[in-house]
Amino acid sequence: MFLQRVVVFCALLGVSWCTEDWTFPEGFKFGAASASYQVEGGWNAKDKGENIWDRFSHAHPEIIKNSDNGDVACDSYNQWERDIEMAKELGLDFYRFSLSWSRLLPTGLDNYVSEDGTAYYNNLINGLLAAGIQPMVTLYHWDLPLPLQELGGWTNPLIADWFTDYARVAYSLFGDRVKIWLTINEPIVICDVAYNTGVLAPGIRSPEHGANICTKNVLLSHAKAYRLYDTEFRSRYHGEVSLANQLVWFEPATADDKELAEIAIENVTGRYSHPIFSKEGGWPPVIEKMMAERSKEKGYSKSVLPPFTQEEKELIRGTYDFYAMNHYTSRLIRKAKEGEHTATWYFGGFRDMNAVLSPGSDWKPTASTWFYQYPPGIRGQLVWLKEHYGDMKFMITENGLATFGGLNDQDRIDYYESYLKQLLLAIREDGVKLTHYTAWTLMDNFEWTDGYSVKYGLYEVDFEDPKRPRVPRASAHYYASIIKNHSLNVVKPKNENDRLTAREEL
Ligand SMILES: *[C@@H]1O[C@H](CO)[C@@H](O)[C@H](O)[C@H]1NC(C)=O
Ligand SMILES: *[C@@H]1O[C@H](CO)[C@@H](O)[C@H](O)[C@H]1NC(C)=O
Repeated sequence: MFLQRVVVFCALLGVSWCTEDWTFPEGFKFGAASASYQVEGGWNAKDKGENIWDRFSHAHPEIIKNSDNGDVACDSYNQWERDIEMAKELGLDFYRFSLSWSRLLPTGLDNYVSEDGTAYYNNLINGLLAAGIQPMVTLYHWDLPLPLQELGGWTNPLIADWFTDYARVAYSLFGDRVKIWLTINEPIVICDVAYNTGVLAPGIRSPEHGANICTKNVLLSHAKAYRLYDTEFRSRYHGEVSLANQLVWFEPATADDKELAEIAIENVTGRYSHPIFSKEGGWPPVIEKMMAERSKEKGYSKSVLPPFTQEEKELIRGTYDFYAMNHYTSRLIRKAKEGEHTATWYFGGFRDMNAVLSPGSDWKPTASTWFYQYPPGIRGQLVWLKEHYGDMKFMITENGLATFGGLNDQDRIDYYESYLKQLLLAIREDGVKLTHYTAWTLMDNFEWTDGYSVKYGLYEVDFEDPKRPRVPRASAHYYASIIKNHSLNVVKPKNENDRLTAREEL
């Protein structure tokens, strides 16, 4: 069937690039994403409260590349109209952005709501809607109000109530116009990466306990915020709510490593998915068992992975309207040899696994040290989720490439093309119900510990210029033509300048 369609399509067009029909299903939506601390700036504008990234970047400039911080970032606090214009130029169906908790609730608690923060997000949301672009809103993209951190942040179980109170304010203010909500972005980075390394805010290293306690509290926070939407807002606003997981895909390095790869996936994907998306709820059984054994070996009387009560299991189970997946990279995994140094990768999920991770030998590197390209990984991951948790609706809420800059970003164009092709295959061949695709990111921004040195933007931003001008890259034109044609059968921009530079170097 598929092949016939391809042949007919190509015969009709009779053009050289045409070998297959890469058209997206009707109703498929394209967007681009950003996050508050990474783009807004205005870190102390009006009554905005201090958050953990304000504090961390000011107190520890030595940890961040070039001592950069998000004080001004892309100045989107002042330039939101230009951001909307860019979303329009690209022809986006939706724009994903996050609310700064401490811009809306300066102390983190709900007794005082900032008028300035409310006005800022109202302007952005109304401007997008006026341009025919749907807002997709993340409640938490890593910028916790500092007063809450001082009470323990994500390791204090009360965070679930603080977060739910914040969610209520956001749903009440914006829920009439925002129909897709993401509660928490990338729990694995908030918990595992942050507490395993200490190089992300809040800058606390506690691999054994911090990461695991945080994981449980993040899941409870998401669940309560989801239930709140269900009970108080859904009947009025008819929106959808989920949380966005960043999933790294693992392939067994040899046929002997299949079981190990499965365990790795369970610890990276399953730990943040099984409690919500599986039929039975709770931690992935294989991980719960392993962690109990390892904890015992280390002399603990209880597992360092905190258990759920039956009530908590029920609270969390089923708190989704779709699966939101951020995806960038993959790894090969194999058992460590006797005495071999086991890679405790920055995601940290391998502490107790005796495994070695590596990229495939032909996977292209990127500007981010952790990031190698392997397009089939995005498809493998979607199929794994469908097989393990069922035939639900999926959205890709982040995907994109890291470069060192330049307007002629052929690598990014190739990345988008190859990953989008894999997604079309997942839709057509594997029957994955994928409805949305989100490019990370609309424009270059503050990339956490990489500062401004690593670029993911469809638009280039000049961070030396106080006006922070934004210029579309070749990939922006390419993405706009994909959206316009609703297909990958578009003319790929040619990169003459890159070739010239290469020749000059010779
Ligand atoms: C799973 O990941 C957590 C958090 O990074 C880690 O503490 C734990 O040791 C990992 N489990 C295994 C079995 O490696
Ligand atoms: C859209 O597709 C048509 C062929 O169907 C092609 O001729 C055109 O160049 C494409 N548009 C862009 C902007 O690539």
